[in-house]
Amino acid sequence: MKVNFVDLKAQYQTIKPEIDSAIQNVISNTAFVLGKAVAEFEQEFASYCDVNHGMGINSGTSALIMALKALEVAEGDEVITTPNTFIATAEAISYAGAKPVFVDIEEKSYNMDPTKLEKAITGKTKAIIPVHLYGQPADMDPILQIAEKKEIPVIEDSAQAHGALYKEKKTGGLAMVGCFSFYPGKNLGAYGEGGAVTTNHDDIAQKVRMLRDHGSSKKFYHEYIGNNCRLEGIQGAVLSVKLKHLDKWNDGRRENANLYRKYLKGSSVKVPEEMPYSKHVYHVFCVRVKEREKLIDFLKEKDIYTNIHYPIPIHLQNAYSFLGYKKGSFPVTEGCMDEILSLPMFAELTEEQIKYTTDCIREFYGE
Ligand SMILES: Cc1ncc(COP(=O)(O)O)c(C=O)c1O
Repeated sequence: MKVNFVDLKAQYQTIKPEIDSAIQNVISNTAFVLGKAVAEFEQEFASYCDVNHGMGINSGTSALIMALKALEVAEGDEVITTPNTFIATAEAISYAGAKPVFVDIEEKSYNMDPTKLEKAITGKTKAIIPVHLYGQPADMDPILQIAEKKEIPVIEDSAQAHGALYKEKKTGGLAMVGCFSFYPGKNLGAYGEGGAVTTNHDDIAQKVRMLRDHGSSKKFYHEYIGNNCRLEGIQGAVLSVKLKHLDKWNDGRRENANLYRKYLKGSSVKVPEEMPYSKHVYHVFCVRVKEREKLIDFLKEKDIYTNIHYPIPIHLQNAYSFLGYKKGSFPVTEGCMDEILSLPMFAELTEEQIKYTTDCIREFYGE
């Protein structure tokens, strides 16, 4: 039996007629960039996230850059995030001209440890970006409390957490600005690149709309030095179709997470914890294992494909060596790095595939 890490073909088969006709519509209308399909999706997504505004952007990385630019983050500023994230979070800070400053994670949630946040704030801190990693929201209340006290805006990196809840509230609407990625493998994925910025603030929304389109709201009149970060019509149309299925797919992921828990019970594999304040949407099902590299090879031989999110934390990446962090700078993040393993996870994964995967894991450990 083959178990892919993700299987976008399986998902497409369940929505083929809707997707094909939505894409054909955009081609017939020739509204290839922004246009009606994107405008409709923006409204639907804003309403899904319980916010006033949603702006379609050409990627999650660009969404973070647009959000930082809208908050006037610039050279000489510092922006706080965690070292346990995809490099795009830090890259966006760098592209805005600022310096990334890291705060270690909590071992249980893999997200920013709010108790370590205040110490990282300086007079130069212009924004804080907690990441809702793997699909589980960061502990936002204490983060927002500290940020409010210091009058620093918070941007959620919700690239992995579409539809996740923090104390019954959707991510993307928990702070001043939310940023999403619609990279194809995400819980809500486009058929190409895509992203969004969400906010309740009219001024930020207006600025992001302009920044993504060359700093302009009227053709050939430019208020700001912007960029070309517009979402394509075909992606808007695909995302509208897929948004209607998102809750069902997230429920499927949650059911699969429970099946993994059931079949791994009593084994030496440590399954992820769902924090009491969160509804996790399992973009990634991250377990902790011993002898990881050997296990990965063993599973590959059994036609089971896994991944590591992420093998090297940002502060130890060559690209960020100039920041001067060393091994030992963030012990909790580093302590997880050699043990984390992402098991196959998507809504269409079958119980047989999960049972086969966990049987193979038990076989490897002789359990
Ligand atoms: C946590 C996180 N932030 C930002 C991004 C960037 O999104 P994109 O790949 O759409 O640019 C990703 C996507 O991979 C991500 O996982």
